[in-house]
Amino acid sequence: MKRIIAFTSGKGGSGKSTCCVSVALALGQAGHKVLLCDLDAGLRCLDLLTGVEENLVFDLKDVLEGKPLADAALQSPLNPNVFTLAAPKYNYEFDGEALSSMLLTAQEYDYILLDFPAGTDFPFCKEISDIVDFIVVATADRVGMRDGDAMTQKLMEFGANCRLIINKFDRRLVKQGTFGGVDDIIDCCGCRLLGIVPFDPLMLSRKQGKFYKRTLTKRAFERISKRICGYEVRLPRIKKIEKGK
Ligand SMILES: Nc1ncnc2c1ncn2[C@@H]1O[C@H](COP(=O)(O)OP(=O)(O)O)[C@@H](O)[C@H]1O
Ligand SMILES: [Mg+2]
Repeated sequence: MKRIIAFTSGKGGSGKSTCCVSVALALGQAGHKVLLCDLDAGLRCLDLLTGVEENLVFDLKDVLEGKPLADAALQSPLNPNVFTLAAPKYNYEFDGEALSSMLLTAQEYDYILLDFPAGTDFPFCKEISDIVDFIVVATADRVGMRDGDAMTQKLMEFGANCRLIINKFDRRLVKQGTFGGVDDIIDCCGCRLLGIVPFDPLMLSRKQGKFYKRTLTKRAFERISKRICGYEVRLPRIKKIEKGK
């Protein structure tokens, strides 16, 4: 059965798009066919991160208005199992029912990953919350933690199924007290942990989400994608993560 997973957070910059693409590449690497669907109308970026921007002709708006999905979903040069459906270039209000039926009819994909815009108020969210599992992407600083809490509360109002990714985790900042510990952020957000992604200073220098070598970050995304697939992949002991082991 296909799964549809949304990457969300209240504020921009927590790493929703980065996590969405990185998980898609890890799932693609494991042989799953993945559709990345960019819902950030006006601020789309998945086309850039997956290297399909030059071939972009049709977007999600066109598909919701009747264009075949196969004409708009572009195969990524980074991984032949990963396809990107770009968001409209300009602001656009998605119709929840149309979006929901598009997602349900996209049968050929094993996973559909939705990259949400920042914010906590999505008119379309109610209609899709029955068919989508949500991931809240939060950072461990005080602002990020409050944001993760607000997003989780909002999603729970819809009765949505939520998991947490702690992104940009930096153990040195935990030691200094700038970041909360892993336990603090889980308690604050009140949803189950899916994975922890370390802060990676090379992230910005990577072209189109490509990982040049086997980094801790890549391994973190591989573990997250295995958990998404239902494998039991134990989290490293929290004390070890905080010590950077
Ligand atoms: N784990 C990480 N380590 C370092 N930088 C990261 C990490 N995750 C994301 N970033 C960077 O943070 C910025 C915002 O990420 P992005 O995925 O666009 O956030 P969002 O989609 O939530 O607005 C980007 O410059 C991205 O490269
Ligand atoms: Mg984004």
